[in-house]
Amino acid sequence: MSLSAPEALLEKLAAEHRLTETEYRRLIEARTPELASAAAGKADRVRREIYGNGVFLRGLIEISSICKNDCYYCGLRRSNAACERYRLSPREILDCAAEGYGLGFRTFVLQGGEDGYYTDEVLCPLVAELKAAYPDCAVTLSLGERGAESFARLREAGADRYLLRHETADRAHYEKLHPPEMSFTHRMDCLRALRELGYQVGCGFMVGSPFQTPAELAKDLVFIGDFRPDMCGIGPFIPHHDTPFRDEAAGSVELTLYLLSLIRLIHPPVLLPATTALGTLDPKGREKGILAGANVVMPNLSPVAVRKKYELYDNKICTGEESAQCLGCLTGRLRSIGFEPAAGRGDVKLI
Ligand code: 5AD
Ligand code: FES
Repeated sequence: MSLSAPEALLEKLAAEHRLTETEYRRLIEARTPELASAAAGKADRVRREIYGNGVFLRGLIEISSICKNDCYYCGLRRSNAACERYRLSPREILDCAAEGYGLGFRTFVLQGGEDGYYTDEVLCPLVAELKAAYPDCAVTLSLGERGAESFARLREAGADRYLLRHETADRAHYEKLHPPEMSFTHRMDCLRALRELGYQVGCGFMVGSPFQTPAELAKDLVFIGDFRPDMCGIGPFIPHHDTPFRDEAAGSVELTLYLLSLIRLIHPPVLLPATTALGTLDPKGREKGILAGANVVMPNLSPVAVRKKYELYDNKICTGEESAQCLGCLTGRLRSIGFEPAAGRGDVKLI
């Protein structure tokens, strides 16, 4: 193959928005700083064509650190006896949203472990109350796997979006990251059920998770091209000291940035966050993420008292900041690179 082949693949991806699994793998394996910067340039251009220099802000409310699952990578896994558990009451969640609304947020993301307390009986009235109090806002749920019936009830109650990272599109890899009682099939079924119910759906994966190679990443890119998610959350894997993966290496910031660019080219309108994990591994990680093609940031709106307890991985940033400080900090960071917080709910602009 000629030396220019990866550049040619990148051109093809930008023009046709699709490569084969083998081609994705080659593009990932061939990454150099030059190729990454070419990918970022193209991703930046297509993102600007659709969304300009606006970046959407989502107010993240971490509603519970209690989880019935035991994912090997996650600090909230049920076997982690050292994790301090908490849950916010509906009243506390509404208070966070009120503060967030006052700060200008028009999307609230309720994220938490799979905590049995949040039955449909608890969540549906909460979602309905949020939508009634803030009709100009989107409510995004990120509460793990639930039954299709539950997804349907929550949608009827007014939930607009659902984030459920697929974690890896390769079944064998999925089984290395999760205990036997968790099912790759069920996770993928959840994503399809959410789509059918009319949610804006987000999938996503960690970059540099244990056992991941370019082959698994290529499958993730094929999956994203096929599923065409409205949102896609990717961030580097960061080991948590109280998990089985404590001694694993963290994922690469550079590879994460490159994949952000490729995902933007695969699915131009996708809402792509520059994640907190990226900002945790690199002090300028989120700015670099935006410059690589991301267009969403998610400042933390959780009560300061619980933020350290919501510890998916080590050294998470923003745990001591008040909500207004996080917002101010991120707004300043965006402006420093020529971007602006965008007004409104920030729905996906399907083209
Ligand atoms: N490092 C990075 N991301 C993690 N997540 C969970 N644990 C870690 C970790 N150790 C991600 C998963 C999950 C999301 C909420 O956080 O992808 O879906
Ligand atoms: Fe939270 Fe900077 S974004 S403090």
